[in-house]
Amino acid sequence: MVKQTGTAKLSFGDTDLELPMYSPTMGPDVIDIGKLYAKGGVFTHDPGFTSTSSCESAITFIDGDKGELLYRGYPIEQLAEKSHYLEVCYLLLYGELPNAEELENFENRVTRHTMVHEQLTVFFSGYRRDAHPMATMVGVVGALSAFYHDSLDINDYQQREIAAVRMIAKVPTIAAMAYKYSIGQPFVYPKNALDYASNFLYMCFSVPAEEYEVNPILARAMDRIFTLHADHEQNASTSTVRLAGSSQANPFACIAAGIACLWGPAHGGANQAALEMLKEIGSVDRIPEYVARAKDKNDPFRLMGFGHRVYKNFDPRAKVMKESADEVLELLGIENNPTLQVAKELERIALEDEYFIEKKLYPNVDFYSGIILEAMGFPTSMFTPIFALSRTVGWISQWKEMLGDPALKIGRPRQLYTGEPRRDYVDVENR
Ligand code: SDX
Repeated sequence: MVKQTGTAKLSFGDTDLELPMYSPTMGPDVIDIGKLYAKGGVFTHDPGFTSTSSCESAITFIDGDKGELLYRGYPIEQLAEKSHYLEVCYLLLYGELPNAEELENFENRVTRHTMVHEQLTVFFSGYRRDAHPMATMVGVVGALSAFYHDSLDINDYQQREIAAVRMIAKVPTIAAMAYKYSIGQPFVYPKNALDYASNFLYMCFSVPAEEYEVNPILARAMDRIFTLHADHEQNASTSTVRLAGSSQANPFACIAAGIACLWGPAHGGANQAALEMLKEIGSVDRIPEYVARAKDKNDPFRLMGFGHRVYKNFDPRAKVMKESADEVLELLGIENNPTLQVAKELERIALEDEYFIEKKLYPNVDFYSGIILEAMGFPTSMFTPIFALSRTVGWISQWKEMLGDPALKIGRPRQLYTGEPRRDYVDVENR
């Protein structure tokens, strides 16, 4: 529990209040308004939560002005370069980098849970083949609670642990199954001799009719994309998972809620929307037309993959993603990829434009990721499922942290009511 480090004085009408303030390890101080309604009879009002701390957390820190992202204190750039996704999963879940034995044990635990209940394959057949893979992922992940009854009791630490490991282990298998189902190919079982990222590529791109060799360059790039998307403080989908978890819903239902929220184009759906936008622009000479549209208040068009609620500087993940895009496309011999050329020129033009400078709009994590994923062979419909796969460890880590808080209360915001005052029912003949 944080200690009070100050007091905020609040005066309105004939009320004078003193509210406790707390100081974080890093970032802005907070004012605890928990007793404001009881003491002052008023609510705070902050639609979109632009100035609201919803919880205490020790997992991820973002400095939007500096463009800094830390997982348990470690900079994302260092983890993307030196670590790998399952080690990052351990770090996010348990707070420290594992030693060699801890890492091996954790990787073995995850590996042993990569298969899903065989009955789940039937579940997929209820969907149309052209269903968006996010539609199948939301449904199938939510359905896991029907199959794994021994990891539903959120009050049992061991059950929370096994649910976390199952989610991390099975979400790549489910995402790959969603892809295979959408292209009419047979599901491919996980191959546990492969590392996490290689196994995902294998389940997506191998077919029973022939041998499939995972390209180690693509596997390393895939693993790095997983790491870059693993967690991101209290974003919309993580807040959704926390709110669902605060009602004591089972872990699979909470993760399904997070997947549903991430699907939106303003959030995780932006990577699909960004690549589709880059392809619609098509060539460098059409960029000014789209930049003008993005600035036009009367045009709902926005530059997808640009802007961020928190980052008012470069999203550090976008920098790593851009370097990775250069590296992967060059290694694949497609460095002249027209979409990448459009993306780089669009970034250059936008960052010189007064509108984007004034509003501090920079490329975010979604701006370059689609270019790499397309080069790997994924259709745009698989971009957000891959984001959901990567973010599952962040969601489940935040969910576990919340449930570990003895002061946990159900999340239940209030409102600014602007509807009708009380009035009596009017019979239809008198209306
Ligand atoms: C993710 O929260 C997270 O951490 C999310 C995420 C994560 O890892 O979980 O980082 C992942 O969701 C990244 C964001 C992906 N979304 C997109 O790329 C969609 C395009 N971007 C925007 O829709 C927007 O920038 C948001 C949703 C990301 C942020 O929106 P905010 O914070 O609510 O900001 P805003 O909409 O109030 O915009 C501020 C101003 C507005 O102009 P004014 O009304 O002040 O005149 O900037 C403008 C906006 O019109 N603006 C843009 C723009 N983004 C904001 N103008 C043109 N193009 C854009 N992309």
